Amino acid sequence: MKHLTFWRVILTVTLYGFTVPAYAQKQLPAIVKKKNGGYNFMVDGKPYIVLGAQLWNSSAWPFVLDKTWPQLRELGCNTLEAPIYWQNIEPVPGQYNFKELDYLVTGARKEGLRLILLWFGSFKNGSSQYPPEWVLTQPDKYPRMKNSAGGEMLLLSTLSKANVDADKKAFSAMMRHIKEVDAAHQTVIMVQVENEAGSLGTDRDYSETANTLFKETVPAQLAQGLNLKSGTWQETFPVYAAEAFSAWHMAKYINEVAVAGKKEYDLPMYVNAWPKEHAFQRPGEYPSGGPVSHMLDIWKIAAPAISLIAVDIYMGNYTAFNDLCAKYNRPDNPLFIPEMGKGADFARNQFYALGNFNAIGVAPYGIDPFHADPNDERDKEKLDNKFAYFKDNYRLLKGAVSSIAMLQGTGKLQAVSEDYNLKEQLVQAGDYDILFSYGFPAYKPGKPLTGRALIGQLGEDEFLIIGFDTRFQFKPKYGSGYSTAELIIVEEGYYEDDKWIQKRIWNGDEVWHSTLTPEGVILKIKLRKTKNSTNGKLKANFE
Ligand code: DGJ
Repeated sequence: MKHLTFWRVILTVTLYGFTVPAYAQKQLPAIVKKKNGGYNFMVDGKPYIVLGAQLWNSSAWPFVLDKTWPQLRELGCNTLEAPIYWQNIEPVPGQYNFKELDYLVTGARKEGLRLILLWFGSFKNGSSQYPPEWVLTQPDKYPRMKNSAGGEMLLLSTLSKANVDADKKAFSAMMRHIKEVDAAHQTVIMVQVENEAGSLGTDRDYSETANTLFKETVPAQLAQGLNLKSGTWQETFPVYAAEAFSAWHMAKYINEVAVAGKKEYDLPMYVNAWPKEHAFQRPGEYPSGGPVSHMLDIWKIAAPAISLIAVDIYMGNYTAFNDLCAKYNRPDNPLFIPEMGKGADFARNQFYALGNFNAIGVAPYGIDPFHADPNDERDKEKLDNKFAYFKDNYRLLKGAVSSIAMLQGTGKLQAVSEDYNLKEQLVQAGDYDILFSYGFPAYKPGKPLTGRALIGQLGEDEFLIIGFDTRFQFKPKYGSGYSTAELIIVEEGYYEDDKWIQKRIWNGDEVWHSTLTPEGVILKIKLRKTKNSTNGKLKANFE
């Protein structure tokens, strides 16, 4: 019966000469919850990891892109994150300009890069700098937030239908256009709705409309969702009333924009947080109402169309970095870091994000040479050497993204990374203890800390190690009754489209030293646990 239907469809298509649009056959990118834990970002029907880079804010323009393509090529990223400016898309109400967007999409496609578009619409870094002139110059029609002194701010009110309708209209037009020009190719794989939303400089909107609403009771949907007794905002959230109120309205606003865009083209959509974890942590010192860690539950209830809440991390210290990763890697939220700092610390932290927190992607900020940072004297023709360590990471990881993504969330992937005064780390994986040690051949003053590794368990006695600048040593788990871990075969190789390609087999001195070199190496290791101590040469390495 099934076969009959299949042939009937084929026949009908052939007889009537229907043309099925190519994109109809291609699965759209999606964020999918895995059965055993974690999430996968599916692209082309396969688990994908964003090994990304983000442009500076004013760089999604053709002349900048032309200078940047070679640098992206050198970096070896698989995804470019680029802003799209409402002010440029809709300079006159209802009249759209997609010239620069098209240039970006066509260029990225030619380079074999995927794109994540950042919609700089109503909100950017806790402010509203990107709406078109016709919005910003008519505050009576497109109202602004007010601060507690009654001053009008450069911040669109989230309580105005005119504001959200105008943003929705432009965003939908953009999504419609992307579908037209890109659905068959899927160069664009995800969209960020707004950027670091919230209100910087005030904990909430103090306009008349906002003041009236603030006195009302918390919506039942929110109170029930949080399992709280519903009262006024002040009663329900005694400490964070202003911020919770802002978060609810901001999340609903952005959700509405996302829903409208998804109706046109159903790509995964996310928001990114300017985290609160710095200084005194007072709302308004960071964008209040944004998706900061203690507002995530509110955002999850108010913005169901948002597939994930991402976090921008500029704190290279590994405690701060890992703390943020842990807060955003939740059963209801996959971790994604669309912006992070540059340099060796962040290159090491990328391994933590991917290996210990199942990140669906990571990206350093500010890849291109055209920006306003007066301290950065980089040569505009060259990739800034602060990206060198990311380049190394991506070289090893790029061909293996599906293989790594499949290990994420299973408990079989872990990461280690060197740090200040951290000279060794012990990892437990299945029946084995693996010790990683750093600082070979010796610590030198001023040498950047570069030791880092991902450890994947492929089978009971089989491991994948991807890393740099660290020595490793296997022993059977303490208490297992086994005494020795023999390295039976150690293959060095690489992944091409997730196919393992062996380059050589390590033995003798290489196995004796078991050192991942500064250039980086991928090893597949088969072991055998034994109760008898074998002769020194066959032992994993120094005891
Ligand atoms: C975070 C913002 O999201 C980016 O757009 C950019 O402004 C960076 N900060 C600048 O460091």
